[in-house]
Amino acid sequence: MRTETPHPILLKDYKPVPYCVDKVELDFSLEPHGTKVTSRIWMRPNPLSTPKNTPLIFDGEKIKFVSAAIDGVSVSPVVTDKNLTLAKVPQKPFMLSISTECDPFKNSELSGLYISNGMYCTQCEAQGFRRITYFYDRPDVMATYTVRMDAPQSLPILLSNGNPGETGTSGNRHFAVWDDPHPKPTYLFALVAGDLAGVHAHFTTQSGRKVALGIYVEKGKEDRCSWAMEALKSSMRWDETAFGREYDLDVFNIVAVSDFNMGAMENKGLNIFNDKYILALPETATDTDYVLIEAIIAHEYFHNWTGNRITCRDWFQLCLKEGLTVFRDQEFTSDIRSRAVKRIQDVKLLRSKQFPEDQGPLQHPARPSSYIEINNFYTPTVYEKGAEICRMLKTLIGAAAFRKAMDLYFERHDGQAATVEDFVTCMADASGRDLKQFFTWYEQAGTPQLTVRGTYNQVEKTFDVSVAQATPRLAGQKKKIPLHMPLGLGLVGPDGADMPLQLEGVGILNAPRVELTKAKHVFRFTGVMQKPVLSINRGFTAPVLLKTNHTAAELLFLMGHDADSFNRWEAAQALAKTLIVKTVVALTAGKKPPSVAGFAKALNLVLADEKIDDAFKALMLALPPEAEIAANIGKDVNSATVHKAREMVRSLIAKKLLRPLKAAYARTADAKPYVPDPTGTARRALRYTALGLIAAANADAGVKLLQKDLKKISNMTAEIGALQALLTLDRAEREELMTAFYHRHKHDPLILDKWFAMQAAIPGADAATRIEKLLHHSDFKLSTPNRVYALIGGFAGNPSGFHAASGAGYRLVADVIVSLNATNPQVASRMATGFRSWRLYESDARTHAQTEMQRILATPNLSNDVFEIISRTLND
Ligand code: ARG
Ligand code: ZN
Repeated sequence: MRTETPHPILLKDYKPVPYCVDKVELDFSLEPHGTKVTSRIWMRPNPLSTPKNTPLIFDGEKIKFVSAAIDGVSVSPVVTDKNLTLAKVPQKPFMLSISTECDPFKNSELSGLYISNGMYCTQCEAQGFRRITYFYDRPDVMATYTVRMDAPQSLPILLSNGNPGETGTSGNRHFAVWDDPHPKPTYLFALVAGDLAGVHAHFTTQSGRKVALGIYVEKGKEDRCSWAMEALKSSMRWDETAFGREYDLDVFNIVAVSDFNMGAMENKGLNIFNDKYILALPETATDTDYVLIEAIIAHEYFHNWTGNRITCRDWFQLCLKEGLTVFRDQEFTSDIRSRAVKRIQDVKLLRSKQFPEDQGPLQHPARPSSYIEINNFYTPTVYEKGAEICRMLKTLIGAAAFRKAMDLYFERHDGQAATVEDFVTCMADASGRDLKQFFTWYEQAGTPQLTVRGTYNQVEKTFDVSVAQATPRLAGQKKKIPLHMPLGLGLVGPDGADMPLQLEGVGILNAPRVELTKAKHVFRFTGVMQKPVLSINRGFTAPVLLKTNHTAAELLFLMGHDADSFNRWEAAQALAKTLIVKTVVALTAGKKPPSVAGFAKALNLVLADEKIDDAFKALMLALPPEAEIAANIGKDVNSATVHKAREMVRSLIAKKLLRPLKAAYARTADAKPYVPDPTGTARRALRYTALGLIAAANADAGVKLLQKDLKKISNMTAEIGALQALLTLDRAEREELMTAFYHRHKHDPLILDKWFAMQAAIPGADAATRIEKLLHHSDFKLSTPNRVYALIGGFAGNPSGFHAASGAGYRLVADVIVSLNATNPQVASRMATGFRSWRLYESDARTHAQTEMQRILATPNLSNDVFEIISRTLND
């Protein structure tokens, strides 16, 4: 049992370090159990700080202290399991050197220096460097690094940050030197040593400098890197044209590792990636994988400027680099693929991951003011809401001013560790706008709710749009204040065309939007000659929840006619949500479910429209997920009924659309060769959405089709698409085909992850039984994060299984959390976030969730990571 609660770290306690670091030299002698690290650190008293003679306190964890010296004279620091303290250091420039030892082989947390599949690699963000050597392990201490490493010759590839220097051999060992001229914080340090295959290319920057590009992977996987390499080149080009940012070293290397807690890491000049975001062949990766690889390569590359050249003053500012970099990668994807489709996908992600966080016990501002374990704050709020905040800034000040503000940001803060205030000040200075109220987006948690009413006055020819905004507060919170936000809108005339927007007191709007600053606004549009249908929050200009007074008929009209494609989709989602919620109510009361006829008819028109992109059609056909329905109902949810209701609506719609669905399926038959371009991706998205619906309407017909499809397997998208259509059908074929898939792919870890993830997605109140068996499958390993994310993460995202009233799902996930707590607290704590929506469910389920969370809290040696997530989830 935990005896004391850990002290939170507070934003308001920020203080600069008493001693600056200018330059660091690191020597590594790599050994699995006793890697020797010697640092030479050139330091001086910080002119910006503190009384003289302050002690020097370095961070350090799970390392063995060997010796230390100042300017060559041996010293004896006080060493604890967290720090190294020198009570007295010179009050003028000095060189501190420290020798330590660490055990990369035993490092199961995958933070610091560890061994993955025989390769040495590092993960230092956020606080892994302190597990390598003693240092100021915080982002505002930036220094240049020279790294020398020696290793057995059986590990021929030796990489670190910056540009390559001297190499050589002695006996059965060899060494390499790397030199990084750009000052950086510790979290961007990286080192790799392994017997790897390299794939090489080059890129010439806009100013004509030649950069050598390398992607290093396990031997035998070289043929799976070409997509990543192309994505890297297009990212480099895009950052030059879109933001004027050029790369700044002679080399850019990427290494793919199979054991990695996160997606990828932007270490300076040496990005390290989870395998699954590099390796791709048509027969191993799906369209979704291809698009993700492209986006994550871009994301990490873009960090070179937003993150590395300009970094964060402290970890509270994490969204300064993450929100902005996600925004940049979203724009990249929008520019090279379909902007309309990308926007919908991003909003789907926001709603499925960020909204539940923001509306439950784990809510926190995009810039938190307190944390216990910083690794718990790499969240959808920091990343995705952070990106929405950047997007709103761009909308508010306009594209030209936004670009000017970004230029100013790079000019003012290059080489610095900056704050969110610094960033927003650049936006204000470049645009001349007052962004004081806007800043609340960074400081206030919760999803604002807008209540919108449109009222037409036939006589006056006016249309009033009244908007009330409120951000709900959780128990014990103080009242939330109104936010400043742009709100896109349009008045759609009876012919489907937009009417002019003439705002009373302002005139014709030059941009189709208004701005909210108050709790209540009424916008009166004049000269509205016919009754329009209001299209509100077009393009999802603001990340809010909307309640409108639209009638079903108006939503059906928007679905077919809105010039804003986002709102066409949004209207369909709103209608579908209402249908499913009404069906839940009907099922619970033993009554007849509502008719889906109108909705199906509107979808039919979308399907038939040859001008509409296949990807958009696929998105229109997809119903909101069960978790969103549960949140919409808000309390005492029975997860089985929600599942049943959603499937019922799905099948009723599909029955009405069977003919056009079959036609869409036939028309989108696989073209060869497979290319993951926007057209091919769109075609397959529609094909497999249609197949899923066909199977929902008529299981026999669906199964027959997908069996035929699987006979001539040509790519992984087709294989997964066909199998996914089967997941909700409780039939013998499901087990047969899943088993066949397993045998076909059991030697490929990334494809096995897909198999585990599909198993985890199979719905039903008894799903936990299946997962339990899979936990004992010979291919399941708790020590491989990707496997845990696939099976346990997947299961926690399967509401009818995880939130089953029996509590079996909660018990199973709690068991896994307890096991992982000791070996990999970061992964354990990520699994713990699965409990965040427990309060939405019915009383039996809630009781079980509480019991399981209390059991987790009683675990001996509970990590701060898990403690923070579970105690907040249980108590807030
Ligand atoms: N900075 C990395 C990225 O956004 C993520 C690193 C996450 N690390 C962590 N320990 N939580 O690409
Ligand atoms: Zn990032």
